[in-house]
Formats: sequence, structure tokens, C-alpha cells
Amino acid sequence: VHTIPVGLLGLGNVGAGVVRLLADNDAAIAARLGARIEIRAAAVRDPQRPRQATLDAARLTTDPAAVCVDPAIRVVLEVMGGVEPARTLLLAAIAAGKHVVTANKHVLAEHGDEIFAAAAAARVNVYYEAAVCGGLPIIRALREGLASDRIQELVGIVNGTSNFILTAMADEGRPFDEVLRAAQAAGYAEADPSFDVDGIDAGHKLTLLTRLSFGTRLKPEQILCEGLRRVTPADLALAARFGYVIKPLAVADDDGRGVLARVHPALVPARDPLALCAGTMNAIKVTSAALGQSLYQGRGAGMMPTAVAVVADLIEVCRDLPTARAARGPGGGEAPAPGSPLPQARPLRDPGDLECRYYLRFAAADRPGVLAQVTRILGEHEISIWQLVQEGSPAPGSPAPVVVVTHPARERRVQAALALIDRLPVVASPTLLLRIQS
Ligand SMILES: NC(=O)c1ccc[n+]([C@@H]2O[C@H](COP(=O)([O-])OP(=O)(O)OC[C@H]3O[C@@H](n4cnc5c(N)ncnc54)[C@H](OP(=O)(O)O)[C@@H]3O)[C@@H](O)[C@H]2O)c1
Repeated sequence: VHTIPVGLLGLGNVGAGVVRLLADNDAAIAARLGARIEIRAAAVRDPQRPRQATLDAARLTTDPAAVCVDPAIRVVLEVMGGVEPARTLLLAAIAAGKHVVTANKHVLAEHGDEIFAAAAAARVNVYYEAAVCGGLPIIRALREGLASDRIQELVGIVNGTSNFILTAMADEGRPFDEVLRAAQAAGYAEADPSFDVDGIDAGHKLTLLTRLSFGTRLKPEQILCEGLRRVTPADLALAARFGYVIKPLAVADDDGRGVLARVHPALVPARDPLALCAGTMNAIKVTSAALGQSLYQGRGAGMMPTAVAVVADLIEVCRDLPTARAARGPGGGEAPAPGSPLPQARPLRDPGDLECRYYLRFAAADRPGVLAQVTRILGEHEISIWQLVQEGSPAPGSPAPVVVVTHPARERRVQAALALIDRLPVVASPTLLLRIQS
């Protein structure tokens, strides 16, 4: 059995998981691949730091650029994260003729065009299964399982931290800030949680899913993106009364006119499989023309789940290296180009065109006539009410939450109506708008 030398950029959580998985399942991987994989070098910042995996100290280096151009190394795994120096290093490895595997959604969301174009020019591939939902094999499902089909819609829970927070708020009735602090203490949320709770990380993943499914090249800033911070336990409880669970969704759909991509918390029917995806789990529901609906669920993060995705990519790359192809004989197959856009990219649709039902929570003064003003503005914008709930005022004189669930309405009209409603002197704070995903 021959050995394929590979280089690691980063030996933190994911990198250590990769080293452990390769060691633990060495014989099985060798049997499946027909070759052994050997970590020849691993670049880190601080070689003295204790590691979560055992690797010969002589293989650690503080020079990641040297790993990228090392002629002995066939494949470079980028598991360091961040935009720079990751972008420069990926481009250097590609220019040196190496296939690359990366877990880094951030760099691909911001610089995917440049990186995929460089790879195509150098005739190498960029694999990134771990960048979208960690261990859940959604990229492989879209790229291979659904390769012959036309994707119509993706609806997913792609950020485990957000899902953990909303699940705990619903189960325990505790407010956002308190649950976030608990998540940080448990290691489920970063010290700076904004990437997760403001939808930025989910947006990065959605750009990659949208590119693969619809050929559409989205910049993260073109995504309608809203975070979780304004959702309260009362909203979760009220949603449950209406038969819904609030989930942090990433959605991209093509209604025939174009693609609309959005990241926001949404009400999901309680019996929908996404409503049952709890805690840190991820799930993606795909609707495609020929297959219909399919569901992918699993661990979207964590050392070993993410390592499974990185090593799966690595095995796929290694199968297509010339030595492996030669070993398999003629017809061994060229590597597919996972990042290449479809020949005809679908156009983007304006988020104002979205049509769905809405959950609107108004902070209205507890005075006669206030509801009439709110419902008049909604009516003038052709937004009709399905249900209206007014809870008692929490304290005398303080605003009473009024919740309206609408029939299907256009986003553009709803936004215009809220702009007027929020200017009413009887409305104490901006209305919370949540979309209903059905
Ligand atoms: N953690 C997860 O569950 C997960 C899931 C899916 C995807 N990802 C992605 O995987 C990537 C890695 O995440 P992680 O959690 O493993 O991060 P991490 O624990 O912070 O590890 C980063 C590693 O990269 C090294 N590094 C960073 N900058 C470097 C530089 N300039 N030169 C040399 N080495 C450098 C660090 O070296 P030192 O150790 O010396 O500091 C460390 O070993 C990120 O893109 C992340 O988004 C992570």
C-alpha cells in the first residue's frame, strides 16, 4: 500500500480531529482508499501549545506557506479559519498544483469566486464539505445524489449555536441573554457570539449552498439577514399556541423567476421535521423537481463530526490523484469539479417579492383605539389578519404586547406598513417581524 503525504494548515479543534480520525481508522481508510494517508506537516502559530491529538513534534511548523509549496505534499487541508492568511495560503497551494480541502466557510463566502477560478485554471479541486454543516454530508448530497435533479428550495437549520439557544429558550422559558451566557459557558457559543446569533455564519453557508444548487453567486451582503436577539420566551410560547416552533432558518428558493436567499428566525409548523431538530443539531430540507423532498440531519459542528467531513473530502481527493487512478486502472475517473457554477446561473430575486405569512408583535400603549390604528394601517396595505392576540399589560401603564398572525402577504407591503405603525406615538418600540415558513 502506498502512502499519500498531506499537509495540514491548523491543528486546533478540527485539525486535531482529523489527526485522530486518521489514526483511529487507519486500516479501514487504507482498505477503502487503497492507500495510507500520512500527515507530513501541520502548521500552527504556537508549537508549544498542548494539542488534542498526538503528532510527532518534528512535523509541526510555524511556516504554513512552506506546507503549501512542499513538493512532497499532494493535498493541503486548510483548517485554520478566518479570511487571511487562509485565502493567500489556499491560492498558494492551488498555484503549486495541490488539491485543497477546507472547512472554512468564511473565506469561501467572501472569496469563493477567486479561489474556484484559480483552482479551475490550475486544474485542481477545492473540496469544502466541512464548511457547510460540519459532519452533515449536504454538499455531497447536492453535488452527487442530486446531480441530475433541479433544486427548487433549501430550508435549513445550519447554525447549531442559534438552534441551541432557541431550543433552550423554548424549553426553559429563559431570555436570550441568559441562555447565551449558558451556551458560552458550555462551549457552544464564542465569546463574540455575533457570527452565530446575528446570522452571519448561516449567511456564509447559504452563499455556498446557493452557488452549488442554483449556480447563483451571492455576496453575503445580498442575503436578507436577521438575527435572534429580539426573540423572547413569550414569542416562543405564543408561537407554540399557534402550532409553531421558532427556528433559526437559512432559506434559498427559486420560484421560477429567480433565487431569493434569506437567514432569519422563523415560525415552522410543529410537525415539520425542522421543528423537531433541537439543540445543536443541524438539518436541511431540500426540494428538487424529480426527487421531491429529502431531509439531511446531523451534527453541524464539533471536533469529530467536522473531521469526518474533512477526511471524506480527503479520501475523495486521494482517490483521484494520478497514482490512485493508475492503481484503479483505466477509467478510474477524473475528479469532478465541486465548486464549478452551473452553466446558467439563476438570477436573484428582490427580497421585497417574498410572499409568506407573518407573525407581528407590536408594543402598543394599553389605550382605547390603539388596535384600530394598527389594523387600519395593515388593511391599507392589503395585509389581512388571520389571528390577533392581546395579552394583558405586564404592568400598569406599560405597553401591552399585541400579536397579529397574517394571511399571506408581500414582504414589501408588510415593511411599508410597519414603517408607519412604528411611527405611531402609541407604539413604544419597533415591531418584531417573524416570517412563517410553511
Ligand atoms: N470547530 C468546529 O466545530 C467547526 C465546524 C465546522 C467548520 N469549522 C471551521 O474549521 C476551521 C477551523 O476551526 P477550529 O475550530 O479547528 O479552529 P481553532 O481550534 O481555532 O484552530 C485553528 C488552528 O489554526 C492555527 N492557526 C491559525 N492561524 C494561523 C496562522 N496564521 N499560522 C499558522 N497557524 C495558524 C492555530 O494554531 P495554534 O493552535 O498554534 O493557535 C490552530 O491550530 C474554521 O474555518 C472553522 O470555521 C469548525
